[in-house]
Amino acid sequence: MKGKFMYALPIIPIGIGLAAMAVGSGEKANAEQDKIERGKYLVTIMGCTDCHSPHGPDGKPIKGLEFSGHPANAPLPKWEPKMLEEGILATMGLTMTAFAGPFGVSVGGNLTPDDETGIGKLTEEMLIESWRTGNHWKEDKRPVLPPMPMEPYSHITDDDIRAILAYLKSLKPIKNQPPKSIVAPPPTH
Ligand code: HEC
Repeated sequence: MKGKFMYALPIIPIGIGLAAMAVGSGEKANAEQDKIERGKYLVTIMGCTDCHSPHGPDGKPIKGLEFSGHPANAPLPKWEPKMLEEGILATMGLTMTAFAGPFGVSVGGNLTPDDETGIGKLTEEMLIESWRTGNHWKEDKRPVLPPMPMEPYSHITDDDIRAILAYLKSLKPIKNQPPKSIVAPPPTH
């Protein structure tokens, strides 16, 4: 009887340890899920889909292509300075994902987690730095062009930026390389 009891003793702490580990990893998974949910909420109310999802002629995002950016083969919008006299500040491409104006041609990027064409390699630190400074995370730290709402977004908290990225990284990666934005040369007069 005594012998049996002594064998059982060391097993008790191991059992408690395992139970604690299970609770610990469960909590971690829940925290990650909460972060993704928060990110989904923010991405929805901040309207990312408006400019980063290709839209059909009905003005609605095309199903299955959400967040994949300006389609690689879609034409870019045209704009020239004399349009200002006609009261046109900027134009928008067919899919509502590219914009032309005095700033150049600004192309909504692929926000799905594809490593080569999307945000697969974008880290939390890189996105926080981009939104604090207004500079692009990938393209040689140049200022991000309108209409990406950099000024309003620069007031977001670090945790909310992390949550947005966690949600975007939870999406299905879509391979689509939008053309590069064209930064207009600075005015000469
Ligand atoms: C009104 C249109 C618009 C909205 C809304 C918008 N974007 Fe953008 N975004 C753009 C355009 C256009 C570019 C390309 C700008 C450039 O190339 O300079 C861009 C660029 C970016 C970039 C690359 C530049 C950088 O920050 O390093 C990221 C990342 C991005 N958007 C994420 C988002 C997310 C996330 C949201 C929602 C929270 C969002 N955008 C909402 C239009 C928009």
